[in-house]
Formats: sequence, C-alpha cells, structure tokens
Amino acid sequence: MIQIVENKNLKQYNTFGVNAYAKYFAEVNTVDELHQILQDTRFPEKFILGGGSNMLLTKDVDTLVIHINLKGISIDFEDDYCVHLKIMAGENWHQLVLYCLENNYGGIENLSLIPGNTGTAPIQNIGAYGVELKDVFVSCEAMHVERGEMKTFDLDACQFGYRSSLFKTTEKGNYIITSVTLKLTKKDHKINVGYGAIQDELLKMNVEKPTIQDVSKAVIAIRQSKLPDPNELGNSGSFFKNPVIDRPAFEAFISRFPEAPFYKVSESEYKIPAGWLIEQAGFKGKRYGDAGVHAKQALVLVNYGNATGAEILVLSKKIRATIWERFGIEIEAEVNVV
Ligand code: EPU
Repeated sequence: MIQIVENKNLKQYNTFGVNAYAKYFAEVNTVDELHQILQDTRFPEKFILGGGSNMLLTKDVDTLVIHINLKGISIDFEDDYCVHLKIMAGENWHQLVLYCLENNYGGIENLSLIPGNTGTAPIQNIGAYGVELKDVFVSCEAMHVERGEMKTFDLDACQFGYRSSLFKTTEKGNYIITSVTLKLTKKDHKINVGYGAIQDELLKMNVEKPTIQDVSKAVIAIRQSKLPDPNELGNSGSFFKNPVIDRPAFEAFISRFPEAPFYKVSESEYKIPAGWLIEQAGFKGKRYGDAGVHAKQALVLVNYGNATGAEILVLSKKIRATIWERFGIEIEAEVNVV
C-alpha cells in the first residue's frame, strides 16, 4: 500500500533547500508501486522527483509528487575485462561511484561527488572533468508516464548531447527512468586525466601513475575547493549551461575580449565558460538577501538559508540580462525551473 502524505515540505528533497510544499506526496520503492501510482486516477497530474539536485522549485506543487526511491545494484553481464552494472534509479550517484571504486570498477571516477540519483543522470547526461555519462552508458529502462509500459533505451536512442538527452527534449516528461546499466572496466582502466586541474591535483598528491581511486580523490579535492556542499549551502551545481556560439559570433566576441577562455567544440562552434562571463559581469560572490552567486565558482547560484525559489529565479534572470547586454551572448539555465 502506497502512503499518500498531504502538504509535504520538499525542503529535504531539493538540494537548493528551498521551501515548497507538495499538495500530495508518495514515495515508491518498487517498479510495481510506480506502475500502480501512475495509474491512480485520483491524481490526473503527477510530478516526478528524483534526487532533486537539478531543479529549482519556484512555487508549491499543486499535484501529486512521486519520489522515486527504487534501490539495488546488480550485475547484468561480466567477463574478465568488464562488467555491466544495472543500478536502480533511486541509488545515490556518489554512493555508486564509491561502490565502483571499492570493487575496482573503472569508468565513473571522474564523475565523483556529483549530487543526485542515478536515475536522473541520463536526463542531462551528467559530465565533469572530461567524462560524460554517455561514455559508459549501455542502456536504461523507463516507464511511460501515461501508458505505464516499460521500454529499454540504448545509447543511440538516448540522443545524448552536452547536458542533454531525449528525456530532456523530444520525450520530456513522458518517461520515468527506473534503472540504468553502465559498462565499467575491471582491469586496464582508461585513466582520464586530460583535464588540466586533475593533473595539477595529482601532482600535488605526488601521484605519478594514478589509479581510478587517485583520480576520484583528485576530482573530489577540486570539487570541494570550488563547489559548495549542498548539505552546507543549498545549490544545484552549475545553474547555467556554458553557451555554445557560432564562428562569426565567436570572432566578434574574442576580438572584444581576447583574454576570455574558450573551448573549440567543432570547426563552426565554440563554447565560452559562463562562469567567466558571470564573474566579468561582477556577480561572483554577490549576495541579494539569501540568494547569491557562489564566491568560488560563479556558475553556481546558492541559497544562504531562506531564499525562495522565486528569489533565486529573479537573480538568475538579472544575470542573464546583464550577460546579454554586456557580451551579446545568451546563457540558458541548466537546472529545471519548476
Ligand atoms: N571561470 C571563471 N570564473 C568562475 C568560474 C569559472 O573565470 O567563477 C573560468 C575558469 O577559470 C575556467 C573556465 O571558466 O577557465 C571553466 O571553469 P571550470 O573548469 O570550473 O568549469 P565550468 O565550465 O565552469 C563545467 C561544468 C561543471 C563541471 C566542470 C568540470 C557545465 C555547465 N558545468 O563547469 O559541472 O564540474 O565543468 O568539468 O558544463 C554541473 O553541471 O553542475 C557542474 C558542476
């Protein structure tokens, strides 16, 4: 029997730590329970809540909130070299990374300390320090919200892009991911230290031949130095995506701001770090009431305690408008604004 709670405060369920109330709230612990609640006609509309690490709640939720709490990790396939691990959606992502390191499974160590649950990782193709989820992804299983049927999506079907997938675009809101299967190495791990900051950190640690455990330690140290811990300071990681602009726009931009950092994505596209733009616009470390821009990484908006989602949204709009006026570049939110 699924318990339905009325007027539930969602503060504990969103990493921004904002107060917002769910009119009705249910936690599902099995795929069958999920199926059952989706078919419940008392609640025509449903709101799906995973780890709550990539959303900003700007108002109360006037429908049924379903918290996905499916747990379990199992091995789908294994040989001498690799393992296909099937992870249920409600498993915390960083706990999964630690589990893999304990078992010496390689592939997701660069994605250490990313907040949120495994089931939401494919939605925005989580990425950090030179690795994205798609690099180790085999497939995921998902339930159709209206029809209740299960479907398996392989790598191609997910249409992964930079912080994007089919679950964020064409099929937005239509599926609930119930499990994710990843392909991880058991030996001859591919050590990914191309990202400059990791190399610097490993040097500091006096590590010459890094193991996957060393890479994870380095990533954790870098993240802890720049990114606030949601348990201490409410936040949702990068609030904005790094904008990708075409070549004519890039040439105009770089001639005005030759000192700006950038990455060449392709012959015709360039990515500009939004953190740099926001810092140049003077927002880094600024605080407006309890809403603010993190002092160590301008891409992260923070809640100092009692900011409302609406206040954080106002700040984000102010930043967007200033960046547009100053640089002629549009920046887009990475988090889901609800
Ligand atoms: N920068 C500034 N000022 C700032 C922040 C950044 O000038 O306040 C400059 C840095 O000096 C550097 C460049 O911007 O030249 C890039 O900075 P950083 O390496 O910190 O990475 P990012 O582009 O700001 C992205 C991801 C992060 C991820 C890191 C590392 C996005 C939206 N964000 O940030 O992901 O951890 O790279 O790979 O792509 C997240 O998505 O929540 C997240 C934290």
